Amino acid sequence: MIECKNLSKVFNQFTAVDNLSFVANKGEVLGFLGPNGAGKSTTMKMITGFLQPSSGSIKVCGIDLFDNPIGLKNKIGYLPEGAPSYDEMRVCDFIKFIAQMRGIPKELIQTKTDEIIDRINLEQVYYQRIETLSKGFKRRVGLAQAIIHDPEVLILDEPTDGLDPNQKHDVRQLIISMAKDKTIIISTHILEEVHEVCDRAIIIADGKIVADNSPSELENMSKYHNAVTFEAEIEFPLLSEIRNMSCVRDVEFDARRKKTTVFPAQGVYIFDEISAFLKQHKISVTRLTMEPGRLDEVFRNITMENTDKRQKEAVR
Ligand SMILES: Nc1ncnc2c1ncn2[C@@H]1O[C@H](COP(=O)(O)OP(=O)(O)OP(=O)(O)O)[C@@H](O)[C@H]1O
Ligand SMILES: [Mg+2]
Repeated sequence: MIECKNLSKVFNQFTAVDNLSFVANKGEVLGFLGPNGAGKSTTMKMITGFLQPSSGSIKVCGIDLFDNPIGLKNKIGYLPEGAPSYDEMRVCDFIKFIAQMRGIPKELIQTKTDEIIDRINLEQVYYQRIETLSKGFKRRVGLAQAIIHDPEVLILDEPTDGLDPNQKHDVRQLIISMAKDKTIIISTHILEEVHEVCDRAIIIADGKIVADNSPSELENMSKYHNAVTFEAEIEFPLLSEIRNMSCVRDVEFDARRKKTTVFPAQGVYIFDEISAFLKQHKISVTRLTMEPGRLDEVFRNITMENTDKRQKEAVR
């Protein structure tokens, strides 16, 4: 559905996107992750035909950006970074205007507008001018204009940025509900969102793809993958005993929160052993969990590794 090959963007001397290649398929929600300035928005701008690539090719639903840019844009709904719109328009007029621009037949415009207003919860601001909306509502209007023509491909640049927790939840559910028959790319800095919404995540750093995996594969790379964490008052000699168990690689103790994390030796399952040990020593535990892995730690490792490499190259 979306095919990018050797995509690059150079601004003056600066390479913002550096030889990116990937395919996103129908039914897939692909997450773009990466530090500020990594090149996520620039890549999205190129896919949507908003910015011309310096080199490389882009195809959306089989349509080549260079051969047929308008045809390609017809297939896409795009929520740009910052959700720009026409501030002086009222929400209802803006949505109807976009519906018209997107070629929705005149007799269907009111129905489509009502549908989208209901779906994105915009009833209370229907007659309000966009410039007077709060940040979250502006973003919701941006989302409404992106999906009103029911496009096959959605490119959403930080769709939940600035939304309150309830709205974040609703927008994530909306994305999941649309995913079945569309191809969706979202960018986000909210790592929990990756797990909830994305089938796959591409991590971009310095314009390059540095990881392309499912959320669980990324979690498996974490040092916390299959670690056992418990909250309890525990004496240091017992912690040493745990540390010396053959199935244990290391133990971390957070004194403030009385939280202990036990890291397994490579590929070992330790939940039962740790649980039995705590029972045997009659330690009263308020919480005992096995961790899937921490995306924030994986993200930090992968992107910092890239920064370190770049700094070393610069010194050479
Ligand atoms: N029009 C432009 N002219 C010059 N440099 C630009 C231009 N647009 C983007 N850049 C640079 O390209 C790099 C990538 O920017 P981009 O907006 O794609 O990052 P991002 O990954 O979306 O970051 P963020 O997480 O902060 O949104 C940045 O260093 C940015 O300053
Ligand atoms: Mg961005």
